[in-house]
Amino acid sequence: MDVAKIREDFPILKRTMCQKPLIYFDNSATTLKPQPVIDAVMNYYMYLGANAHRGDYEMSGQVDAHFEGARITAQKFINAKYPEEIVFTSGSSMGLNEIAIMVSKKYLSDGDVVLSCESEHASSVLPWRKSEKDIHVEYIPLDDEGKITMENFKKAIHDKVKVVCIAQVSNVLGFCAPVKEMAKYCHQHNILIVVDGAQSTPHIQIDVQDLDVDFFVMSAHKMCGPTGVGILYGKKKYLDELDPVFYGGESNARFDKCNILLKETPLKFESGTQPIEGVIGMKAAMDYISQIGQENIHQHEVELKQYFLSQVKDMENIQIYNSNAQSGIVTFNMFDHGKMIFSQDVASFLNTKGIAVRSGTHCAKLLPDVLHVNSTIRASFYFYNTKEEVDAFVSALKEVTLANCVDIFF
Ligand code: ALA
Repeated sequence: MDVAKIREDFPILKRTMCQKPLIYFDNSATTLKPQPVIDAVMNYYMYLGANAHRGDYEMSGQVDAHFEGARITAQKFINAKYPEEIVFTSGSSMGLNEIAIMVSKKYLSDGDVVLSCESEHASSVLPWRKSEKDIHVEYIPLDDEGKITMENFKKAIHDKVKVVCIAQVSNVLGFCAPVKEMAKYCHQHNILIVVDGAQSTPHIQIDVQDLDVDFFVMSAHKMCGPTGVGILYGKKKYLDELDPVFYGGESNARFDKCNILLKETPLKFESGTQPIEGVIGMKAAMDYISQIGQENIHQHEVELKQYFLSQVKDMENIQIYNSNAQSGIVTFNMFDHGKMIFSQDVASFLNTKGIAVRSGTHCAKLLPDVLHVNSTIRASFYFYNTKEEVDAFVSALKEVTLANCVDIFF
């Protein structure tokens, strides 16, 4: 993988932040966009322009071809069996909300349990907790490092568990859940499995048929695509049975004062004008990622993480919480004379060096109970990051003291 050449595809990498070259290590929050994605979005605005599935003129037909072509690209990207199993959404959170509403309504009863875990992103947990049914959310205990193990998972299963909803890769610790084994165990016990692929799809090859998950969601913006668009994958047998959350737009075939006839899966779930330029941009992002190759991407990120760990191993003022996670996420805190420096102060100090990281609880607000700290700093690497950037990061971390961090506010 020629990282120097790849970086030329990203115009934003030429900008500065706080008068320093931009070092973007907040890729778990969102990723930067390469020129082919920008061009695809611009192409829609400049040459296509029309709505999808509504017009009887050439330009509209061309939009339909791009829009449905993107569905086929997405189908292949995650290896779904049918293109109908790909529903466009505004992103992973929306997909998880729709699944929770639809699945609760159709398949769950008061008192049923949805099993998640304590490192989960809010979007995997809260939609079930706010279900109109009396659904109880229980949490798989994590091991000492914060991982889901099959042993703990099996122990957490009982008769009332009807759905398991977890992230394939944790957005805070970067550990990968044993999704394939979990899905097998779920199906042996008539349990549905819903997987949040927001943090896995950008980095590893996804094969929903091999994983045999029932539902899967992802967001385009976390893999070089536009914001406001993503995918809800569901096995066709379930999507055919479920009632959509939203009605109107072009999701119905016809209706009169008494009856509504919805379109077939997946169009029945795509009510209203879709983010057409986003879908087209997402296709370009999938093509771009596939061309680089997820194996190369994953290997590069893990190498950067290992390099970072080797560079900070003798530093005494840093505590790393996820050294063993095989991903490009490093979660840590900085200390001064044994006292933890507030993560946001460290992030603000790094900003003055042109370095973007995230601080806080990273949308996983139960995790502090497991890590026993209120907040952490997260650096998340992607394939366009370099060892030289890691060097600059480590140099900046060596300057972190309470005085330096607090100084920036005066
Ligand atoms: N869920 C995103 C993150 O982890 C926004 O930062």
